Amino acid sequence: MLVLGIETSCDETACAVVQAAEDPARRIVSHSLFSQLREHAPYGGVVPEIASRAHIEHLDGLIAECLRGAGLQTDALDAIAATAGPGLIGGVMVGLMTAKTLAYAAQKPLIAVNHLEGHALSVRLSDDVPFPYLLLLVSGGHCQFLIVEGVGRYRRLGTTIDDAAGEAFDKTAKLLGLGYPGGPAIEKLARRGDATRFALPRPLKGKPGCDFSFSGLKTAVRLALESCGAAASEQDKADLAASFQAAVLDVILDRARHAIAAFDARHGARARHFVVAGGVAANEALRGGLVWLAERNGMPFTAPPLKLCTDNGAMIAWAGLERFRLGLIDDLQAPARARWPLDSLAEAKPFAGAKA
Ligand code: KG4
Ligand code: ZN
Repeated sequence: MLVLGIETSCDETACAVVQAAEDPARRIVSHSLFSQLREHAPYGGVVPEIASRAHIEHLDGLIAECLRGAGLQTDALDAIAATAGPGLIGGVMVGLMTAKTLAYAAQKPLIAVNHLEGHALSVRLSDDVPFPYLLLLVSGGHCQFLIVEGVGRYRRLGTTIDDAAGEAFDKTAKLLGLGYPGGPAIEKLARRGDATRFALPRPLKGKPGCDFSFSGLKTAVRLALESCGAAASEQDKADLAASFQAAVLDVILDRARHAIAAFDARHGARARHFVVAGGVAANEALRGGLVWLAERNGMPFTAPPLKLCTDNGAMIAWAGLERFRLGLIDDLQAPARARWPLDSLAEAKPFAGAKA
């Protein structure tokens, strides 16, 4: 079974072909990625209009390169998958329309993939992780705990009520005058800093539930920076980066404890994995903390390799393949969606922390 996947929901233009033979054999046959980092870096964040144009410019060439790398033509594919949301709508439309065109021309089934489902299932491409498992998805656009019960079956335990964790890293990096993306820059600077110097808040820590909030933390960083005077020294900035990272880690570990309890309440303490995905999962301090917490709770910890953690085409091809083998295909009317929650019931519920 061979599936082509296309990803264009944010600032990576990506595609890949994945193959599954008999379960559990599977592999990435070929993948191509164009990162738009340089296009967006001068603005300190992703500019939607620039992103859409860059996707248009690069996607066709990337697909051709990817198929060439796989030694395949579209008629050899079993299905064509593309991210249909959530994400920056212009970019999503570029990828989905391209997939529809290819599917129509080659008379292949189309699979409209939820980008979050791509992240949620990517670990099953790299590792043998059975359902159900607990997933922490931490990226520039998302910060949520999900119970992954099966393909198309997700229960959201908590999400951010304002900024995503990666967004908080990026905004803090901008305040400190570091480059974009901010996460790696903050992590590097934090190694030279004293994490105890600034007493930054831990939003929602100790509150019931698994929701997150990071916007107050960002404001606290700004005030702390101002307290250092007109020209903060390199050491001030390193201490602030370390204090910020420690606060984020502390909050995520607190929320993770609640998520593990919620998972156990639903599925009992049987075979259970703790999985992390998304670009922020690259953070070594965070990984270390999560590995420690999972071990203490007797849970195997799995993170897909970094190239599968950040946005990529293989995760979309893989989610497409998992859907395809269950007969879950879409027609050419499938809409592009800016918003598309994985767990529509959770989306309808009010923010749990508001009651606390
Ligand atoms: O998953 P991703 O590549 O793209 C999406 O947002 O979907 O995640 C990118 C985010 C950025 O906000 C970036 O600053 C953050 O992941 N990030 C990190 C690290 N590497 C990337 N955050 C903290 N520490 C890192 N080492
Ligand atoms: Zn993503």
